[in-house]
Amino acid sequence: MMITSAFKIANKLLTGQGAVEQLAHELPRLNISNPLIVTDAILIKSGTVDHVLKQLGAYGIFDGVEPEPEIAIVEACAKVYRDGGHDGLIGVGGGSAIDIAKAVAGYVGHDGALETLFGVDQIKRKGPPLIAIPTTAGTGSEVTNVSILSDKQAQLKKGIVSDHLLPDVALVSPVMTLTCPRSVTAASGVDALVHAVESYLSVNASPITDALAIGAIKLIAKALPKAYANPADLKAREDMATASLMAGMAFGNAGVGAVHALAYPLGGRFNIAHGVSNALLLPYVMAWNKLACVERMAEIAAALGVQTFGLSDKVAADLAVEAMAELSAGVDIPKGMRSFNVPEEAIPAMAEEASKIDRLMRNNPRRLTAGDIEQIYRAAY
Ligand SMILES: [Fe+2]
Repeated sequence: MMITSAFKIANKLLTGQGAVEQLAHELPRLNISNPLIVTDAILIKSGTVDHVLKQLGAYGIFDGVEPEPEIAIVEACAKVYRDGGHDGLIGVGGGSAIDIAKAVAGYVGHDGALETLFGVDQIKRKGPPLIAIPTTAGTGSEVTNVSILSDKQAQLKKGIVSDHLLPDVALVSPVMTLTCPRSVTAASGVDALVHAVESYLSVNASPITDALAIGAIKLIAKALPKAYANPADLKAREDMATASLMAGMAFGNAGVGAVHALAYPLGGRFNIAHGVSNALLLPYVMAWNKLACVERMAEIAAALGVQTFGLSDKVAADLAVEAMAELSAGVDIPKGMRSFNVPEEAIPAMAEEASKIDRLMRNNPRRLTAGDIEQIYRAAY
């Protein structure tokens, strides 16, 4: 079989402190005259969205995005889009706002029900133009082809995966992340780290995604503690915005693995923020994965700043696990699923659910049965 590696990202990336000011040039290029801004009420209140609105003539706002957004929000936002006669979407926010904007872009040009879009490649044609402006660093959603939504009834996270969801433009400015609360800075920063680590260990990693992943890990190890310690540190914010983008480009192509698969039941059932659920599981999944990828984990240790000279790969890999746990603890992410009132009895069902997320599990370097996953959850409890 001929093996091919594809590399896909947003069509255009504009980065740096002046990135949002480029909106005025990008809108006419994309034939957008009346965009719908998709965001949340907190970002409007904090004044963060004003940086975007200043660049616009006519526009509408949908501010009903919530964390871990539900499918119903896509329906509500699509209605506002259609009723307002809009001709483009601008997602301004964390992963949730951008994921909603992506889902709406896929849905408004689609003939069937929203549910029929879940899964891989169910969107038949490209929807309206889409611009992504992240305010966290971050989910990397601005450069990926996935939109993750919560099905509250089924207590599941569901994904729409389609290259038609890749944004036309991503504007990534550290200025937009200055109002990001400390706890969100920490959780989304660790999420970006997990994206980089999981894509470096993915069975689909390529030299292109490797370079991005290792670069992102190096930046995050240095910049996350600084951005957390001093939210106004624009250099640290810029490094984190860049790292999150690089990690997004890496995992958007190499994929993420078991950390994300095990984290989804925690988000779906117990509403634990995505970055936090990843952080709770990261060291334990990495310890499990080590057997399959000890050399690569030793390289991750070095990227995290661990002094690995003269150490065996096995010892360096163990130090990588420790360094990741330390980085999370340093930005005050709580440890243990217990501290989030996850009942221990829920573990077998969560393990069963995670084991079925084949879209992610197949990227993981080591195979996991439901029984293995149960053990990892118990270790992380
Ligand atoms: Fe993530």
